[in-house]
Amino acid sequence: MSDHMSTTVAKPFLTDVTELRKRAREHLENGAVTKSYQGDVKQAIEILQSVLATEIVCVLRYTQHAIAAVGIDSESVKDEFLTHAREEQEHMMMVAERINQLGGDPNFDPKGLATRSASEYGSAETLVDMIKENLIAERIAVEHYRELIRYFADKDPTTRVMLEGILATEEEHANDMHDLLVAHEGTPFLPGPN
Ligand SMILES: [Fe+2]
Ligand SMILES: [Fe+2]
Repeated sequence: MSDHMSTTVAKPFLTDVTELRKRAREHLENGAVTKSYQGDVKQAIEILQSVLATEIVCVLRYTQHAIAAVGIDSESVKDEFLTHAREEQEHMMMVAERINQLGGDPNFDPKGLATRSASEYGSAETLVDMIKENLIAERIAVEHYRELIRYFADKDPTTRVMLEGILATEEEHANDMHDLLVAHEGTPFLPGPN
């Protein structure tokens, strides 16, 4: 029987985008906004734990890409990946500090990291696929952080302002990846609406 065959076929990285976006929204759709301050803090910490996981995965993915990128013209791309890895690490630290300020314990546990994250570690082997993976991850992050900024609004301006700063960098990252893709593949890459 060929039952097991279908499960061993490598999934193209694009197929998980819907799932990742669903995951990114989980905590927002969960639970109505509570009136009590305590309730908000608890939910804020939960949301920020998933942001933290997202940033950690981004650090790991860009770092891996910075090491693994090979080929003609890869040097400037490697530098870009490395710069992004450092900036994602800054985000990681900011979010972890904020969780701590809110009375939470920032979760750096590698166990379950991928399922807490709204971005993917990826499996790209070519330079162009790496750039595409990063572009997708950045676009999900941009979308996710815009929603979170609307969520925090005036309820927690400190967290909101932090996320606005992070969002600005993620938008730059997405632009950088888009430009690299055009330079290396010659065509703009636009994923579908889901
Ligand atoms: Fe980031
Ligand atoms: Fe980013």
